[in-house]
Amino acid sequence: LENQPRPATIWLNFQDCTGCTESMMRADAPSLERLLFDLISLDYHHTLQAAAGESAELARTQAMVANEGNYLLIVEGSIPTDQAGYATTAGVSNQDLFIEAAENAKAIIAIGTCASYGGIARAYPNPTGAKSVGELLTNNKPLINIPGCPPLPVAITGVIVHFLTFGEWPLLDNLQRPLAFFGRTVHDRCSRRAFYEKGLFASRFDDPGAKTGWCLYQLGCKGPFTYNACATTKWNDGVSFPMEAGHGCLGCSQPYFWDNDSFYRPL
Ligand code: SF4
Ligand code: SF4
Ligand code: F3S
Repeated sequence: LENQPRPATIWLNFQDCTGCTESMMRADAPSLERLLFDLISLDYHHTLQAAAGESAELARTQAMVANEGNYLLIVEGSIPTDQAGYATTAGVSNQDLFIEAAENAKAIIAIGTCASYGGIARAYPNPTGAKSVGELLTNNKPLINIPGCPPLPVAITGVIVHFLTFGEWPLLDNLQRPLAFFGRTVHDRCSRRAFYEKGLFASRFDDPGAKTGWCLYQLGCKGPFTYNACATTKWNDGVSFPMEAGHGCLGCSQPYFWDNDSFYRPL
């Protein structure tokens, strides 16, 4: 990869909190620096680029024209569809910007649960008519979803590098997620699993059982229904993950998890 021209990459932010970008910035395999300096040419990124205004938009359109049919499009955030004016960039609605950029992309990555499934903006009553990338994609460009709120950093950079190396996505599940990161539930690898099997459940976040490592299922943990690699790769360079830090899984990589109405209750 280091001896080839770095592939053009355009990253669009729509209805998002930029948490997915924040997560990617903490990647270590490969790191963000290695990704940007050696592997891709990040020609446009709303929150990371130094350029602003007309020069930023010019960089995007130039990259799209110069790399027609060959650039990687990455989308962070859901796309509002009820009214064009809900969210715009340089006077162009999110929906039009996405459709224009998707038209000549080589492949599309939906980063985070917002882009993959609509996320928090799509939660009831969905006031902006938020949709996911997959719902708005009208062509047959290869699409991969990397959900999570935010996604694991290594899932983001790992998928990008896999695509650049092999020219195709890794194996996907039925929700278009890479099986390497979403093939098993968080529960499968959780450090509290032994207590779940023994029927030892914490009843409060501050009770002695919770501190000893008892299972958090009765406090609303959604690990058994959530496919993600948090318990394996962990966060912050492998330091910890929610259940190790004392909090149950909210199911953030599953579609429509905001609408379960059960964050701190068992399903
Ligand atoms: Fe933010 Fe979560 Fe949406 Fe990513 S998926 S933009 S972290 S709300
Ligand atoms: Fe499963 Fe959650 Fe209990 Fe861990 S804390 S064993 S993920 S139910
Ligand atoms: Fe999300 Fe659950 Fe992992 S809330 S960060 S999938 S432990």
